[in-house]
Amino acid sequence: MRIFSGIQPTGRKHLGNYIGGIVQYVAGQERGEAIYSIVDLHATTVAFDPAELRELTYDTAAILIAAGLDPARCILFRQSDVPEHTELAWLLTSVTAYGDLQRMTQFKEKSAKQRELVTAGLFFYPVLMAADVLAYRTDEVPVGEDQRQHVELMRDIAIRFNSRFGEQFVVPEARIPQVGARIMDLQDPTSKMSTTSASEEGTLYVLDEPAQIERKFKRAVTDSGSGVRRGPDKPGISNLIDVLAVVRAVAPEQVEREFANAGYGDFKAAVAAAVTEYLAPVRERYNQLHADRAALETVLAAGAERARAIASATLADVRDAMGVGTPR
Ligand code: AMP
Ligand code: TRP
Repeated sequence: MRIFSGIQPTGRKHLGNYIGGIVQYVAGQERGEAIYSIVDLHATTVAFDPAELRELTYDTAAILIAAGLDPARCILFRQSDVPEHTELAWLLTSVTAYGDLQRMTQFKEKSAKQRELVTAGLFFYPVLMAADVLAYRTDEVPVGEDQRQHVELMRDIAIRFNSRFGEQFVVPEARIPQVGARIMDLQDPTSKMSTTSASEEGTLYVLDEPAQIERKFKRAVTDSGSGVRRGPDKPGISNLIDVLAVVRAVAPEQVEREFANAGYGDFKAAVAAAVTEYLAPVRERYNQLHADRAALETVLAAGAERARAIASATLADVRDAMGVGTPR
């Protein structure tokens, strides 16, 4: 089974990215042939700084390796090093409905937030994402809940392509975690934790120091009631229960049982302690890795070479099926 996912080199990675994405990428190495891409081309769809983009690409690579991605057991590469992605994205526009792109929630949300320019790239983003996955004839795509619609769209694109030009693509399945697919902002538990969210305090970064972790959980917004249990009226506590469940690798029900008689203060302290312990080794390994640009570049270059071998074979078939380019 082949697994593919992409992560943007934008901003600092937070607990939502970690739990919704990275934890699953690491697990994927055990379950199949795992391919992960740092999608720098997707990062150019909103305002960005070129020098910073380069830095954040290394930074993201270092976080992924620190979290447990092993270049010997997966393919880790930078999207722009494999030009087949952009070529395939264009070819897929021939079977992508304009109306479908207009319906994408992420486009609507992100375009509303842009101050200066809503780029055509932002609109086209889901097609490039479809190309990322389809180029590898991927079976499974581990992502958080916010990417479900994009995976649905790439399935539609694959199905339409296959029926128009012959069976070229595997129709991929999203793999969305049961718990933790949508980690919420600690200050505003009705909106998801995100890099662009309003409050720094509401976003727990993977590289936060223990004192910051403790402070952010201590100040996390809960409700005026009591009782450590999940419910639609308790978005803050529900979120913290999910976080603790994932970090301890137990079911949320078990967290509820254990803290049935605890107050919010004690519960939050327990979550902070567990998350601190959970992220400490990642932060340590990151500190050892991130400064060595040459070593990271070597990993990414080797990954790109392996990725390209797969993607170029797909592209040769696709070009042929579509009747573009020099005949084989
Ligand atoms: P990105 O950094 O936007 O490339 O996202 C990387 C991964 O993190 C994707 O699979 C997202 O679905 C996932 N993700 C982003 N925000 C959250 C969140 N608040 N909760 C759970 N997963 C998330
Ligand atoms: N759009 C994804 C996100 O924001 C990142 C991404 C790009 C991706 N290409 C992908 C995820 C391919 C899965 C598969 O999180």
